[in-house]
Amino acid sequence: MTSINRLPERSEGSRAPTECSECDRWRKRFYARSWILHFTAFSSERRLIEVINSFPRGIRDILKQSSVCNRVFLLMASSYILSTGESAVESLKLQAQIMRDHTIAHLEKAGLKPTDSVFEVGCGTGDVTEILVQHSHLVVAIDNNSKQVEATQSRIHAADEHTFVVVQADITDENFSLPRSFSEKDDGLRISFDKAYARLVLMHLTNPLQALRNMFNALMPGGVLMLQESVMRIMYTVPHSDAVEQYTNTLVRLGEKMGVNFNIGEELPSLCEQAGFTDIESWNVDDGCAGLSQAQWGAFILMRLAEWGPRAIEQGIATQEQMIKLKGDLEALIQTPGIKFYPARQVHIIARKPTV
Ligand SMILES: C[S@@+](CC[C@H](N)C(=O)[O-])C[C@H]1O[C@@H](n2cnc3c(N)ncnc32)[C@H](O)[C@@H]1O
Repeated sequence: MTSINRLPERSEGSRAPTECSECDRWRKRFYARSWILHFTAFSSERRLIEVINSFPRGIRDILKQSSVCNRVFLLMASSYILSTGESAVESLKLQAQIMRDHTIAHLEKAGLKPTDSVFEVGCGTGDVTEILVQHSHLVVAIDNNSKQVEATQSRIHAADEHTFVVVQADITDENFSLPRSFSEKDDGLRISFDKAYARLVLMHLTNPLQALRNMFNALMPGGVLMLQESVMRIMYTVPHSDAVEQYTNTLVRLGEKMGVNFNIGEELPSLCEQAGFTDIESWNVDDGCAGLSQAQWGAFILMRLAEWGPRAIEQGIATQEQMIKLKGDLEALIQTPGIKFYPARQVHIIARKPTV
């Protein structure tokens, strides 16, 4: 018989491991919001997949599964709240347009060179990957979402396989390692990188420190880390708009509920230090939606609302009526002439892995 047991509730933000009730093993990944399936009669992964497939599509899409021991499987609700694959292309394209110049300035400041090997984490649909491929010798990109991996793979067809590889992998995996095959495509057994890069990825992770430790390990001594993350609470319009304030407050609260920090930009220097990085340089970018028309930023914010809104309702952060009203208020705001929109503050980081 199959039963679904909720793990015991623990304090918000707790990262302590929980023992598996079916065997003596434990995983640090057992968090308060996780569900485990006990297969007392059907101890096979095939049966697990059948059970998962019987869930409604929306639930299936947010679950990721891992086998913990022979009889227990862990199902975790993914903390990623935005769209993926085809449906993410448009909003990520506008996001990339907002950020492109700052991203290029960031890469230049970090000293990206044509001879560099780069490890990119959370490549999404490949906006930065495309730039990295043009300016370095080798790019190994990862994303834990297969749709994003496919989107990046099909977008960067111009690059030959010696300069670009994209693989599906989870950067928060405690036993993270890249498939060996990628290094064979390079000029030997290179397994460490000159640069590691992530843009708007750590904000979606319940364990960003583990991700930074994995990026640290992927770098060669003296290698350079480049990060860009948001401080969502510093997003506003001039003149002030209640609707945008409500948008940011609801989104930050949703993040808290999902165990992620949408203001993580503020914590990056300290997280980098904890992961072992030195020479940490950090700066803010707050200069508004340069290059986007009011109609474009309006489209962007509405697309994003459509992506995370259903999650806010599902998580009990807002009611359907509140979200419908917020959408209407934002639509009205976008039609108001002369509004200047400041998207979330961005924090950029350059840090180094010590040489000894
Ligand atoms: C907001 S998108 C940013 C994409 C890209 N970096 C950009 O700036 O255009 C975040 C990406 O991180 C990926 N991601 C989320 N959690 C991840 C994890 N644990 N390991 C690897 N990638 C992850 C998501 O699938 C998504 O593609």
